[in-house]
Order: sequence, then C-alpha cells, then structure tokens
Amino acid sequence: MQVAFGTDHGGFDLKDTLVQEIESLGHEVLDHGAFKYQPDDDYPDFAEAVARSVSEGLASKGVLLCGSGVGASIAANKVSGVRASVCHDEYSARQGVEHDDMNIICLGARIIENELAKKLIRVFLSAKFSGVERHKRRLGKVIDIENKA
Ligand code: RB5
Repeated sequence: MQVAFGTDHGGFDLKDTLVQEIESLGHEVLDHGAFKYQPDDDYPDFAEAVARSVSEGLASKGVLLCGSGVGASIAANKVSGVRASVCHDEYSARQGVEHDDMNIICLGARIIENELAKKLIRVFLSAKFSGVERHKRRLGKVIDIENKA
C-alpha cells in the first residue's frame, strides 16, 4: 500500500528507521519530509501534507512523527476524512484501526524507543477495520460529527 509519511524536527532522527521499516514490509512511502533537520520547522506543515494525501486517497494510511505525537495528531485531524491518533502501545495501534478505522498513526519520537516505534508501525499497517456492525455504527456517528462541523 501507499503510506504517506511526515515528520518535523522533533521526529527527524527516527525518520530513516521508520521509512526503512515501512519499505521492508513491502509498502511504498510517499515522503512529505522533512528532508533535512531544521530546528525551526513546524509540525502542522507535515501533518497537513500527510493528512491530505490520506484524505484524497493518494495514500491508504499515514505515519506522522513529532516530539510527542500530539501536535501532529491535532493538526491532521483538521482534515476531512482523517482519523489520526497518538498510539504508544500495541493494543491501541491495532484496535485503533480495527474498531475506529484510524488511518494515521502519530508517534512521539521523544517518548518511545526505536524498537517500539517499529513494532507499532508493523501493527498499525497490518491491521484492518473489522467492519463489525457496532464499529460501523460508531464510525458513522464520527463521520456525522465531521459533516455537521
Ligand atoms: C517541536 O519542538 C515539538 O513541539 C513538536 O515536535 C511536537 O512535539 C508537538 O506536539
């Protein structure tokens, strides 16, 4: 699948490790930068680019990094059709997709170790929305909120 990827300076050190991990799983990375370490770059720029790729169907899922994962998540969720969340444990990375159809995972590179980040990426990318009726109903209600906004 196509996986949109973006990071600000807060996640830049983790970028190569995760891009390699995604590619090693057979996916194609749509790289939205940052392309070099710039301590004054801004996470919303990368979050918007990744979110639009997912929203417009250029990528099936997205991965965003920042220092905490929080800013990237807040910014990405402003784009219609995006369901982004910080996930720093395996259960959330899997259940977020299976139950909530999360399409962007946000990781805090200042918080988690590289091996955990790689594991979370593997879990997130392999998980699929369950399609179970109650989850579809809840997802529909989430989409209704977005449509009312
Ligand atoms: C940047 O220094 C930092 O604030 C950003 O990467 C992120 O953690 C925001 O949530």
